[in-house]
Amino acid sequence: MSQSIFPVHWIHLTLRGDERGDLVVVESERDVDFAIRRVYFLPRTALGVARGFHAHKHLRQVLIAASGSCRILLHNGKCAYDVILDSPTKGLEVNPMMWHEMHDFTEDCVLLVLASDLYDESDYIRDFNEFLSLANPR
Ligand code: TYD
Repeated sequence: MSQSIFPVHWIHLTLRGDERGDLVVVESERDVDFAIRRVYFLPRTALGVARGFHAHKHLRQVLIAASGSCRILLHNGKCAYDVILDSPTKGLEVNPMMWHEMHDFTEDCVLLVLASDLYDESDYIRDFNEFLSLANPR
């Protein structure tokens, strides 16, 4: 699969700024097409640290760099693709069976994650070879 047809799904949020500053709204089942059941954020990632390194069996998520920027490496079981999150109005959908890694956090990065379900460790696939086997059944 060539990189140009890698299935990256973006959500475009509206900047509702005025002279006081910026405001970005995300509405459950409107701006994202699932019900948001959990919100978590990475407000202060040490320089040089990479996170993630897993896929989910069922969970749907949207990642937003509320401040600063980071690079997300996606792998769909066939090939990898890098995307840059560098705007609070760009939401990246990370759907089930999409391996994802978070790299190159800037010092000011606040990575916001909207998730379709509560935390459940049994939904994680943390071993890349297991992920490849599940994504490419014989
Ligand atoms: P982990 O998913 O390993 O972080 P990342 O993928 O970003 O590197 O989570 C780190 C720890 O936090 C781990 O012990 C699980 C816990 N955790 C929760 O308890 N609830 C949550 O919603 C999340 C995302 C993590």
